[in-house]
Amino acid sequence: MTEEPFAHSRRYMDRAREVIPRGVSSARRAALRPTPLAFVRASGSRITDVDGNEYLDYVAGYGPMLLGHQPHSVFDAVREQLAAGVLYGGQHEAEAELAERIVRLVPSAEMVLLSVTGSEAAQAALRLARAATGRRAIVKFEGHYHGWLDPVTANTPGSPVGSGPAPRPVAVPDHSVVGPEVLVCPWNDAEALADLLERHGFEVAAVIMEAVAVNGGNLFADDGYLAEARRLCDRYGCLLVFDEVVTGFRLALGGAQQRLGVVPDLTVLAKALGSGFPISAVAGRAEVMRVAEGRVAHAGTYNGNALSVVAANATLDVLEAKRDVIYPLLERLSGELTAGINERADRHGVPLRATRAGSVIRLHWDAPDPVRGYADVLAGRTEPLRELAESLVRNGVHARENGLWYVSAAHTEEDVARTLAAVDRALTEVTS
Ligand SMILES: Cc1ncc(COP(=O)(O)O)c(C=O)c1O
Repeated sequence: MTEEPFAHSRRYMDRAREVIPRGVSSARRAALRPTPLAFVRASGSRITDVDGNEYLDYVAGYGPMLLGHQPHSVFDAVREQLAAGVLYGGQHEAEAELAERIVRLVPSAEMVLLSVTGSEAAQAALRLARAATGRRAIVKFEGHYHGWLDPVTANTPGSPVGSGPAPRPVAVPDHSVVGPEVLVCPWNDAEALADLLERHGFEVAAVIMEAVAVNGGNLFADDGYLAEARRLCDRYGCLLVFDEVVTGFRLALGGAQQRLGVVPDLTVLAKALGSGFPISAVAGRAEVMRVAEGRVAHAGTYNGNALSVVAANATLDVLEAKRDVIYPLLERLSGELTAGINERADRHGVPLRATRAGSVIRLHWDAPDPVRGYADVLAGRTEPLRELAESLVRNGVHARENGLWYVSAAHTEEDVARTLAAVDRALTEVTS
């Protein structure tokens, strides 16, 4: 790195801020220090910025790059499709092929609707649930994120209506932002959910949750909680929706639901499905999905666009063919990284802890140890994590400022060793 290693990124950001609010196209990207970076290319586990600095990448495009950057067979399929057209405004065979694959792989999937982003697919799931049940209310959980669109922005990290734990289930008061019918409940608290549904259960269309609370601290629920949520939904006739935008195809080929053995009514999928090409899906019970044949309009110019669909088919091809190699590899590397970070934190005497869900790692600073719930996550300090991320960037590791890391199948043992050496240096810097 040169003396001013981020000069071109800084210059880019100065230019961009004149014409793009905060200079970024997605809000969280503005948080990286010493400056949000501008990139020129990415390949495998590496990403290179406009100043020529190369990093080991754990941002992974915010999760989609499960196979690393530019996986060969996916890019070959996309190149081939480019020669045949991008957007037909009509059907093409790869769409049904993709839906058939998802039905085969994801336990809850009997039918599939394709969209472009995770936020949209979450909205589609909620709309389907409302139409299928004839009810309006939605239950969501503290800290769980389902995209940036109304009405589920309530109580997510960085939300305009607050991210603190709700002492008890509350209707979110800011109607203009989230609508009056979103009930926020603490997660992994079966009693709280039972209480809430006892009072409102017959008004509730959907109970939506991240089956593993990735955005709420990267935590698994206690044994039995998801099964109890399933039972309660059945009792009150609410649809259980798993947002597997992050965990789908990442935690296991069939997602968190396969790994944890609880089948929702509807599942939201995105990120890892497309290896970086924008694609998402709602999948679920045919009886519910068929509501889209009349009572719910599901539309979108780019839905099922040929490039994203062939990218998704090629991605699932690789994941299916190499499942016995890829998932154990992801577990091993992520396990080594998590243990290595915690070991180094102890050695440096800093209150840093990493929690892991499959190949997703989340760092916590000064949070209760072990981190057991969203309140513990919020008790942690964010500023030291930002300093650590900045220091890691200076040491060749691209990681998010909030400590959420994604490991990919392109990472290697050598990458892990280099990353841990960088963590060592970064911890020395932030504690000196
Ligand atoms: C669990 C979850 N759901 C939904 C979304 C929204 O997806 P997108 O950013 O593609 O709209 C995200 C994005 O990070 C997510 O983590």
